[in-house]
Amino acid sequence: MDNPRANPVNTLDHKRCARPIGVFDSGVGGLTVAAALRRRLPAESLLYLGDAARLPYGTKAPTTIIQYVLKAAGFFMAHDIKMMVLACNTASAHAAAALALHYPEMMVLGVIDSGAERAALQSSGGRIVVAATEGTCRSGAFDHAILARRPDASVRPVPCPLFVALVEEGLTEGPIAEAMIRQYLGDSFAGPDAADCLVLGCTHFPLLAGALRKVLGDGPALVDCAEAVAERAAAMLAEGGALAEGGENAGGGGITLFTTDAPERFSASAGRFFPGLGQRPPVELIDL
Ligand code: DGL
Repeated sequence: MDNPRANPVNTLDHKRCARPIGVFDSGVGGLTVAAALRRRLPAESLLYLGDAARLPYGTKAPTTIIQYVLKAAGFFMAHDIKMMVLACNTASAHAAAALALHYPEMMVLGVIDSGAERAALQSSGGRIVVAATEGTCRSGAFDHAILARRPDASVRPVPCPLFVALVEEGLTEGPIAEAMIRQYLGDSFAGPDAADCLVLGCTHFPLLAGALRKVLGDGPALVDCAEAVAERAAAMLAEGGALAEGGENAGGGGITLFTTDAPERFSASAGRFFPGLGQRPPVELIDL
C-alpha cells in the first residue's frame, strides 16, 4: 500500500497550487523519479532530499526507516510542501502508511503501486522477478501489489543490495556491473522457466538498464516505475485541486537539492540521474 491517503481538496487554491512537491530518497536514486516528474509536470517546483548520511536504507529495520522518513517529512513540512513523493521503494514499502498517519494533511505518494501496475501490464507470461533491496524484498510489498493486479503471476523478489553501491559509485556499465548482474539475476532469466519481466524495484536501478540489457538480452520487459509515478502524481494533484499549471498557479518549475551528507559528492553524481541538471548543481547540506 503506498498511497494510503490523498486528502483531496476540491476547491482551487492558487497558493496551494504554487507550493512545492517534496521528493525523497536515501540517496541520488530518487532523482530518476524527480526527472520524470519534471517531464510530466514542468510547472511544478520540486524539493529533492537525499538522505545520504543514512544510506543504504535497504539493509535497515522497518522501524528505523519509519523514523528517518518521518524526519524527512518534518523537513518538507517546514518548507510547506503540498505532496511528498517517496521516490524510494524501501521507504515506500515500510513507511508510507506511518507517514499518512502522522501527516494526514499531506498528500503522500509511494512508488510500489506504480511499479506493480506496470509489471502486471508489461509481463507477457506473468513470470516476474523484482530486483530490489533486502528490505523491499522482505516486506512482500511488491508480491502483494502485483498479485492484487495479476493473480496468475508468479513473483520472485531478488535482493540485489550491491547494485545500490554500484550506482552510487557510478559503476553502471562494464565488467563489474555485468558480473554482479549475472550473479544476482543470471539464474532467474535462464532455462525453460526464465522470467519474462524484471521490475527495477529500487529507484537506483534504472541506471543499470544498459548493463541489464547486455546481460539479460532483449527478451525480458524492464519495468521502471518513474513515468507511472509522475502520472499518478499528476492525477492526485488534479483531483486535489493542487496542480501547478502556469500563470498564477505556477510553482516556478525549479528543483532545489538537499542532502544530509557530502553535498559535493551528491552534486557530482546528480546530473547522471536527472539529465538537464548540469555538471555540478548546487546542493544544500541539511541536518535532519
Ligand atoms: N533507492 C532506494 C530504493 O528505491 C534504496 C537505496 C538504499 O538502499 O538506500 O529502495
